[in-house]
Amino acid sequence: QVEAHEKITYSTNQRVKQLADQGAPEGTLVVADVQEGGKGRRGRAWVAPVPGTNIAMSFLLRPEIDPSRASMMTLIAAMAVRAAIADVTGMDTKIKWPNDVIVNKKKVCGILTEMTMEEEYIQSVVVGIGINVHNESFPEELKEKATSLLIETGGGHFSRAEITAKVLEHFEEYYEKFIADGDLRRLQEEYNSCLTAIGGKVSILAPEKTWEGISRGINEEGALLVEKEDGSIEKITSGEVSVRG
Ligand code: BTN
Repeated sequence: QVEAHEKITYSTNQRVKQLADQGAPEGTLVVADVQEGGKGRRGRAWVAPVPGTNIAMSFLLRPEIDPSRASMMTLIAAMAVRAAIADVTGMDTKIKWPNDVIVNKKKVCGILTEMTMEEEYIQSVVVGIGINVHNESFPEELKEKATSLLIETGGGHFSRAEITAKVLEHFEEYYEKFIADGDLRRLQEEYNSCLTAIGGKVSILAPEKTWEGISRGINEEGALLVEKEDGSIEKITSGEVSVRG
């Protein structure tokens, strides 16, 4: 089931959730050329107001897994986007844990995974992906943080349909490996090979305090392993990790 909107005034994630409530099958996909009410992580907005510029896509999964594992879907999605960008543009990107796809230290893609529950079971996992494809510039407050495939390739134009199809193809490939064990053990090495700051210093901005350590990559559960000064390893599963240098 695929639904394509020229313009969605709310969010493609929200639309997939609606379809999920109505019994839509796994794999249901919603794409929008223009998305006016897009949602980012931490309650932020994610705008895609110019036709032909962004990819806004969301798809539905109904995995029979423990709800605590749903966040692993986000890491898989980041790997799929990275592989799709490499296929279509030839460009090498990095992943900033857990799920930002980065070129030149700037973000080219954001991912928002949302889960709905039915009693203690997962009813749906909605994976929402936004990719900046043809943006020529960004508003002042985003200039340092955001980029697009066009900017990074020096003016390249790409088929958004092709990128979208590649994201889905790679997601399926990685998702099957995830489902085989119910964790990321088969994907961990590849994920870590494209992780920013691996082996380098990271600052962990936790609600109580900020601390620093050395990033040792993810484990099979998708947690970021950070080595403290005393050599002990802390598993980071939430909180914002900012990368120094
Ligand atoms: C982030 O904050 O980095 C996540 C941004 C996620 C944006 C995408 S665009 C398609 C989908 N629909 C939404 O409303 N959000 C996600």
